[in-house]
Amino acid sequence: MSKKILLLPGDGIGQEVIAEAEKVIGWMNREYGLGLECERDLIGGAAYDDHGTPLSDATLKLAHEADAVLMGAVGGPEYDDVPRDVRPEAGLLWIRKEMDLFANLRPAVAFDALMAASSLKAEVLQGLDILIVRELTAGVYFGKPRGMETLPDGTERCIDTQSYTRSEIKRIARVAFDLARQRNGKLHSVEKANVMETGAFWRKVVTELHQAEGDGVTLEHMYADNCAMQLVRAPKQFDVIVTDNLFGDVLSDCAAMLTGSLGMLPSASLGAVDSAGKRPALYEPVHGSAPDIAGQNKANPLAMLMSLAMMLQYSLGADDAAKRLEGAVQAVLSDGIRTEDILDSSKGQQAVSTSQMGDAIIDRLGS
Ligand code: IPM
Ligand code: MG
Repeated sequence: MSKKILLLPGDGIGQEVIAEAEKVIGWMNREYGLGLECERDLIGGAAYDDHGTPLSDATLKLAHEADAVLMGAVGGPEYDDVPRDVRPEAGLLWIRKEMDLFANLRPAVAFDALMAASSLKAEVLQGLDILIVRELTAGVYFGKPRGMETLPDGTERCIDTQSYTRSEIKRIARVAFDLARQRNGKLHSVEKANVMETGAFWRKVVTELHQAEGDGVTLEHMYADNCAMQLVRAPKQFDVIVTDNLFGDVLSDCAAMLTGSLGMLPSASLGAVDSAGKRPALYEPVHGSAPDIAGQNKANPLAMLMSLAMMLQYSLGADDAAKRLEGAVQAVLSDGIRTEDILDSSKGQQAVSTSQMGDAIIDRLGS
């Protein structure tokens, strides 16, 4: 049975890292007979250049039809003056919203071989394995009203709105409880209940849900500012963190650096299972389009390849293939093969290119 994968490379290094994912998909098809059929389309600046919109209806239709979407990255300085509603980032926000991908899973795992690449001490990081569950389709990213207004006295004012409904909080908390149960049973729910109305509401709803259906999960509440501090002070106290869209954006970049590089963090964005048993899903590295190194064959493709591993696990039921790919990433790192972003020059390592890193993964996958 074949499965349809929609590839959306996007902009900048998105193009280069997705090429390495295609190599691995080819290998997976040969080795595991997964029958993955890839189609390609445009998103972000690339789509804007061609169609005047960062996400066309035709692309969205392909995304809905696909079994899973694999995305690169969007954005670049050449779009700085483009109106906000058709900027590359708007394409990413639309596809998340239109596919109702409310649950964004961002695992941060510290690899032993990369301890030196992090700015933190090895003992703080060794064995680190945390999962940030970020709400992705509500909150201040989408709240209304938003925008500029001019008050009667001529004062200019700009507004963003943070808003959450009970059901929006419940469904993301439920995903987090389930994931915590499959892991170490520890969940931190993060907000600013001391300052924000939505924060106090978030805490109330999560607490009630925990009482009703939180068996097997220990729940702790934490303020977002404290969480940022604890993530760099003692990150191993965390197992699963559930938080809103904006705090999740900020805290996941912070967690990424615990692993040594933003080039190492994968993500999965999942919707609810539909009546046909299908779960809409988009997988993307957490890093951006990195215009400063785009087109130079320098980018680290590992976050993309680990996003592919998440796709194999969550969308394709191919757990063995996912483990094999994760194992190949471990092996390559243990062998000291590094792209520039994770180089340890004190060990005399030489940086490999994006495509050489992809080839090294294929080599470790073996046959
Ligand atoms: C992310 C990114 C996006 C976000 C941008 C590119 C719109 O930072 O996925 O973390 O803010 O969600
Ligand atoms: Mg971000």
